[in-house]
Amino acid sequence: MPQLGVDFIGAIERSGLVGRGGAGFPVGTKWRAVAQRSGGRAVIVVNGAEGEPRSQKDRLLMTTRPHLVLDGAFIAARVLRARRVILYIGERHEKARHAMLRALHERTEPERGLVTLAAAPGRYVAGAETAAIHFLNEGIATPTTAPPLPFEQGVDRAPTLVQNVETLAHIALIARGGRPTSTLITLAGGVARPGVLEVELGTSIGDAVRQGGGVTEQPKAVLVGGYFGSWMEPAEAWKLPLDHRARLGCGVIGLLPASACPVCETAGIMRYLAAESSAQCGPCFFGLRALADACTRIADNRSDGRDLSRLNRWVDEVPGRGACRHPDGAVMFLSSALRVFASDFANHGSHDLRRAA
Ligand SMILES: Cc1cc2nc3c(=O)[nH]c(=O)nc-3n(C[C@H](O)[C@H](O)[C@H](O)COP(=O)(O)O)c2cc1C
Ligand code: SF4
Repeated sequence: MPQLGVDFIGAIERSGLVGRGGAGFPVGTKWRAVAQRSGGRAVIVVNGAEGEPRSQKDRLLMTTRPHLVLDGAFIAARVLRARRVILYIGERHEKARHAMLRALHERTEPERGLVTLAAAPGRYVAGAETAAIHFLNEGIATPTTAPPLPFEQGVDRAPTLVQNVETLAHIALIARGGRPTSTLITLAGGVARPGVLEVELGTSIGDAVRQGGGVTEQPKAVLVGGYFGSWMEPAEAWKLPLDHRARLGCGVIGLLPASACPVCETAGIMRYLAAESSAQCGPCFFGLRALADACTRIADNRSDGRDLSRLNRWVDEVPGRGACRHPDGAVMFLSSALRVFASDFANHGSHDLRRAA
């Protein structure tokens, strides 16, 4: 087993572990930044918010392997000399919260004494790390502008590590001498057995779908990475290996059946993402609403004929202009829809006629 000192951070770096909460950031780099500043004051935030509607992996992991997540959190506390561990668990994930609390009661008193529990509001952006810190400091789960970054000044103004629950489970396995060779994904949409799968890193999406019982209907497209991910043509997606280079995001793989309308599906997701903006930054609040409205007009056959060119223009104007990456994720998703479903967007009016035929 690697030594649980600064050496352990080297072991994390050598393992190549990247965060499993969506951003895919190298874990060792984040730990080193917190370790340098900790001075025995650091705070560990265990991110079990899981705000992505189609993702189920984090709540399943907390429900079925709570000790593994706690092991990872307490290792982080030891290595980074933290004085607090906060379990930030989605308010709707009741089973997960109960399992984590039951497991916590089975731990030693010094470990239990470090921990407090917080219910993450059930909003998409509440899982973003600055939103988690804002909530824990002031009770408001909206993202804030960085800097200071969490590792500089987070909860109680102390250096803070915010880490996804699956990432922490991998930490526990690395401490036992393992390597992160698998990843959790959530299969959704037109697949025989939707739900969570643990797959070897590098497994192709086609093989993962086969492990999920295969498709229920020929897919029109595959959404890789959930609502912050990208649509892909099935032929391209099928070969794609599941690892952090695949922009796996939070690990949701959604299959859109050929009988579904991709424009209506995209418009629905854009309306959801626009409504989930925390309304603090103009380009995000107004920009996402304008994009969602234009998509909806096309989906409802109410467009004046200029909405598609508006969408193609506006997708370049929104990214990078918010305090967090919410608008960037939404625009990446929409851009992929405009690319993969170009002809569906251009000829949408005809789909009602097709159905009526
Ligand atoms: C809008 C938004 C929502 C997010 N939601 C979550 C979430 O629900 N759970 C999560 O673990 N990370 C979420 N993240 C990513 C976190 O900001 C952060 O990168 C992550 O918790 C760090 O842990 P990791 O490095 O182990 O992935 C979200 C990010 C953004 C921008
Ligand atoms: S970019 Fe959007 S979600 Fe992020 S803080 Fe600004 S308004 Fe809120």
